Amino acid sequence: MKKKILVTGGTGYIGSHTAVELIAEGFDVVIIDNLYNSEAEVADGIKMISGVKPQLEVLDICDRSKLDVFFEKHHDIAAVIHFAAYKAVGESVRKPLEYYHNNLMSLINLLGAMKQFNINGLVFSSSCTVYGQPEVLPVNELTPWQPAQSPYGNTKQIGEEILMDTTRADENIKAIALRYFNPIGAHPSGLIGELPRGVPENLVPYITQTAYGLRDELKVFGNDFNTPDGYCVRDYLHVVDLAKAHVVAVKRLLEGKTKSSYEVFNLGTGTGVSVLEAIQSFERATGVKLKYKVTGRRPGDVEKIWADPSLANTELGWKTVSSLDESMLTAWNWEKNIRGKKS
Ligand code: NAD
Ligand code: UFG
Repeated sequence: MKKKILVTGGTGYIGSHTAVELIAEGFDVVIIDNLYNSEAEVADGIKMISGVKPQLEVLDICDRSKLDVFFEKHHDIAAVIHFAAYKAVGESVRKPLEYYHNNLMSLINLLGAMKQFNINGLVFSSSCTVYGQPEVLPVNELTPWQPAQSPYGNTKQIGEEILMDTTRADENIKAIALRYFNPIGAHPSGLIGELPRGVPENLVPYITQTAYGLRDELKVFGNDFNTPDGYCVRDYLHVVDLAKAHVVAVKRLLEGKTKSSYEVFNLGTGTGVSVLEAIQSFERATGVKLKYKVTGRRPGDVEKIWADPSLANTELGWKTVSSLDESMLTAWNWEKNIRGKKS
């Protein structure tokens, strides 16, 4: 009997890639998504890759009564991966209440429903944003948190605190928070990828849309940071590598291998890359010249951060495989593929 995994936000960017990897590993996947930032057709892309179309329930997790109806129907869920959230740093500075409401209510509702329906394992999408601007780099899981630089970052800090308190209070519930650094790229098939609604807030979809001609030029948010070339530094990892870590985490929960009721892991490559280096990688990998212009800083941006991923390497047996250039090429192939279909 296949184990059923609930993937919230499963038609979104990371959720859809994770659904593919879960199906490949023999899990049954059911998705909840309110399609705020994704489209129902993503489930068809998952089917084209994996041969199985996951069930999609379109609902808002902030609506607890609808969530309860969902769990009454799907009482056999073995574990949950909670991706559903708003995720844009800059937007969260402009719309803090929307971010606090959506990201915290969804988590609280989900944990309440899990307790009620006796579902005990949760993998949570956390972020390196919980570290704020760290004093020492790279960051490991014990690096102290600095104040969040944005309302979004604060929702991830509070989200992790909610999980710490909940797992402490209820010994049945086990949670693993995966602190992603910057996922980029797309499935090598070109059938699923990052497709934000409206103008992209993240760097790589903005790059690929500019290269495709949908945007005039990339605005680079500052080159006067205290970094080697003056540009912001991040740790970009391929989304398929990231998706695979979720399968490892789910198995760890289901096999009772967690070492405490609440575990955290950094998921990154271990290498810091500047925005300029990311642009150069895109140009090198694709042969396409990118139009860009340096503008002012974006409020809420962390100057530099990259991971020490050694805990995930040793404890989860997980590490990234794809290079930055490979990631950029898959992002570009996806952009061309999806635009070809939409035009
Ligand atoms: P995404 O926007 O592509 O996917 C999130 C999905 O959740 C969307 O399909 C959206 O429609 C859905 N959703 C949002 N609120 C919902 C609600 N209340 N009820 C039901 N569905 C809802 O984002 P993503 O890049 O796939 O990110 C997934 C998770 O990973 C988020 O929690 C995000 O904060 C976290 N994260 C992302 C990044 C990144 O750079 N993409 C980095 C670190 C952490
Ligand atoms: N950037 C630009 N121009 C753009 C977009 C981004 O110069 O149009 C720069 C940003 O200033 C930053 C870098 O590119 O230096 C990366 O920005 P992203 O918006 O792609 O990523 P962030 O690091 O700001 O945030 C992302 C996700 C968060 C997640 C975080 C983890 O949006 O959900 O990665 O690092 F928490």
